[in-house]
Amino acid sequence: MWSFTFISAALLLSKVSFAGAALVPRAAGDVCDGQVTLSEAFIGADKNVHVRYATCPKYGSKVKTLEARQAPIDVCGNSCGGPNPNDCAVIADALLYDSQNIGPLFTVGTGTNNTVVMQYATCLTFFVNQDTVPIEYCRNDWSSLVTFIAPNCQATQNAHGGLCLASNEQWFAQVNHS
Ligand SMILES: *[C@@H]1O[C@H](CO)[C@@H](O)[C@H](O)[C@H]1NC(C)=O
Repeated sequence: MWSFTFISAALLLSKVSFAGAALVPRAAGDVCDGQVTLSEAFIGADKNVHVRYATCPKYGSKVKTLEARQAPIDVCGNSCGGPNPNDCAVIADALLYDSQNIGPLFTVGTGTNNTVVMQYATCLTFFVNQDTVPIEYCRNDWSSLVTFIAPNCQATQNAHGGLCLASNEQWFAQVNHS
């Protein structure tokens, strides 16, 4: 089982979302500026959670920047608020549904196909494989991360989303407002 570090969005999102291409807004539902989407589908019992296989060319350098920085930094855009936890619950449920009906594991590729994005209404979560080999992860665990992050990273906590980073930095999973 993977262990992971929980990082509040106050530390993370300003780097992932705003560093580098600071003033260029990402397109609605994209996880970064310049996202390349390879394929998409809808999952869950109601086929209402939007899944995309994609990549964000600049993740590598952004995450390294985050790691190098220990102290919390100000977050631009706190007023955006976090995702609606009820919307995130729909994604968490869809992951559990797929775990029971498709299988417990899913594969995340590398390079230009290293990101899996899931979106329902206000809730956007994505999983990034930072390794050079494909990794397998548990749908149940991603579901738990979404369930944990959504209510714990709201504007009232001075955040608008959050992230789990694997302790070996092999991957990270993030939840924020779409
Ligand atoms: C992207 O990776 C997923 C998971 O390994 C795979 O199912 C899919 O076929 C890949 N897409 C492309 C275009 O390589």
